Amino acid sequence: MDSKRVIVPLDFPDAARALAMATRLDPSLCRVKVGKELFVAEGPAIVHRLQDAGFDVFLDLKFHDIPNTVAGACRAAARLGVWMVNVHATGGEAMLKAAREAVASSARPPLLIAVTVLTSLADAELAAVGLSGSAADNVGRLAALTAQCGLDGVVCSPLEARALKARHGEAFKLVTPGIRLPDSPADDQRRVLTPAEAAREGADYLVVGRPITQAPDPVAALRAIGAQLREATS
Ligand code: C5P
Repeated sequence: MDSKRVIVPLDFPDAARALAMATRLDPSLCRVKVGKELFVAEGPAIVHRLQDAGFDVFLDLKFHDIPNTVAGACRAAARLGVWMVNVHATGGEAMLKAAREAVASSARPPLLIAVTVLTSLADAELAAVGLSGSAADNVGRLAALTAQCGLDGVVCSPLEARALKARHGEAFKLVTPGIRLPDSPADDQRRVLTPAEAAREGADYLVVGRPITQAPDPVAALRAIGAQLREATS
């Protein structure tokens, strides 16, 4: 089992604030996620500065375009030396396979993960964009397509993890946000599990933001989560 299962999202508008948080973390205890806001503001330089500080970087740009364009973006991400990169599963089979081939042909292939259904979309909104069935149905179908195309795993809710693990096996990686400590506020997340619960449900990597970044001592929060994960899986 990977000893660094916690991914801390650096959802900040600029490098100064992102690096200020990174310096309060410990690269031996977690990985970090660079999303659209920080990457658009600061570009590849922020990825390199985090890597120089010892962190593995999950580049969370959720590529969604024609196969050739997504393949190029995945190749560029791999050249940055990121640990994980992601695409939207709704880009379809040809796009997913092009992404996988682009990553596989790189010198240091990152893990390639697909987003199934954004958790911000409820069933009514899915219908409005032409996706019939419930969010859970769509997650199941898109995860199956992702697995069939040979990607490494999906982003999902920890509440979907058990069913996806059962269907796709241990090697299919599940990355789950929506994690809260027993005593931390849910904030704007609706369906949350604790780190121990998520681990027991089968989550491989836990994206944990505010319970760490807003804690008075982020490293202490990381250590507490690490202890809970070890206990849950021992
Ligand atoms: O602070 P919190 O733990 O809620 O942060 C969760 C992180 O995971 C944020 O960066 C958020 O954008 C991201 N995320 C999410 N739900 C998803 C996908 C990503 O909360 N379905």
